[in-house]
Amino acid sequence: MPDVSLGPAKCLKGEVIPPSDKSISHRSIMLASLAKGKSEITGFLRSEDTMCTVNVFRALGVDIEEKPDKTTFVVDGKGLDSLKEAQGILDCGNSGTTMRMSSGILAGFPFMSILSGDASLSNRPMLRIVNPLREMGATVLGRNNGEFPPIVISGGDLRPIIHKTPVPSAQAKSAVLLAGLFTEGTTGVIESVRSRDHTERMLRAFGADVKVEALKVSVKGRPELTALNIDVPSDFSSAAFFIAAALLVEGSELTVRSVCLNPTRTGLLDVLRQMGADIEVVGKDAVSGEPVGDIHCKSSGLKGIEVSGDMIPSFIDEFPVFCVLAAAAEGETVIRDAGELRVKESDRITAMAKGLRAMGVEIEEFVDGMRIKGGSPLKGADIHSHGDHRIAMAFSIAALIAEGETRIENSQVVDVSFPGFYSVLEGLIEG
Ligand code: S3P
Repeated sequence: MPDVSLGPAKCLKGEVIPPSDKSISHRSIMLASLAKGKSEITGFLRSEDTMCTVNVFRALGVDIEEKPDKTTFVVDGKGLDSLKEAQGILDCGNSGTTMRMSSGILAGFPFMSILSGDASLSNRPMLRIVNPLREMGATVLGRNNGEFPPIVISGGDLRPIIHKTPVPSAQAKSAVLLAGLFTEGTTGVIESVRSRDHTERMLRAFGADVKVEALKVSVKGRPELTALNIDVPSDFSSAAFFIAAALLVEGSELTVRSVCLNPTRTGLLDVLRQMGADIEVVGKDAVSGEPVGDIHCKSSGLKGIEVSGDMIPSFIDEFPVFCVLAAAAEGETVIRDAGELRVKESDRITAMAKGLRAMGVEIEEFVDGMRIKGGSPLKGADIHSHGDHRIAMAFSIAALIAEGETRIENSQVVDVSFPGFYSVLEGLIEG
């Protein structure tokens, strides 16, 4: 796959609307497939990851029409029990969200489903969904007794459970809640820290009875879900790359528009403000049950920070670019309690440590995080994306402030969440 080369940028100016939210796009297809009637999804993120979900639900017999604009999808749902056994293996590609959340739904059906993925997904932990789905009564198999994909499910006749998630994970929480739709009774999930809550919000919008009490979320089984039109706002995780670029490249000023500002996702904004970032957020009306707004940011001198504990889940996907920001900040940044980063699309702690070291940054790696000595100038380098979209994009932003040229290997991997990333970035760079 092609590599991309980037050099230092003079400055970034203007406005940008990042691509639509990946988490909300996945969920819109899944829930619309279980609802009765035609749901129109506008602003759907057409990326490699989300198209896996579209193709999985098509294979399960759902009629999903893609309109010529490529961002409007119409899902003709036939109700909760309407999925049909797929003829082949359900290919989840690189997408943990597709595999883990679809497993929750498929646990509600008596037929056999086989879910597999690419090399990265095949090594991601699945017991966090396999264990509770087994407890609910589904037969679930996987490599190494359910630890890794492929996953084979034969479900139906589920019982409700109250489940404590072993790690804060929205995918694990969602899998249990979705399986709970197929039970007679109320299924609950208790988290130690609140993970992103898009599933809860959307389930409610489709008509399910969802209760949230502190760190417990519960859903009543056998709801009648009714078709809904959903407008997907822009993805904060994609916006984060532009926010970082504007803060880092001297003389920059950017407005990032129509971004989903769900508070379970925007922890990076709080951290950046504490680091000294000049960021202004203007909230707008909610879109499809999600808060939305514009983010205005200007280049800023940043200082290092310590991040750990409860703050981690609210910016878990922004860590690669956060590491780049930390490398440019004055002083030390320490990241702790972020061991989940090791089981994302790549081991993001090692991938970031290796790449930043290649760019001349002093890094100490911990099992659950790292120490970054910030403030020295970055040098251009050859960077491995490790087949991880967010690693490729994070180092592309680092390249904008590095001396000389940076080459990102397998840069095409950005298509997983942000097709067109490089042309959008180029369009914002002046001079
Ligand atoms: C996601 C949840 C998070 C996140 C991932 C998307 C989701 O994963 O890292 O990119 O859409 O629910 P975990 O559930 O593993 O924390």
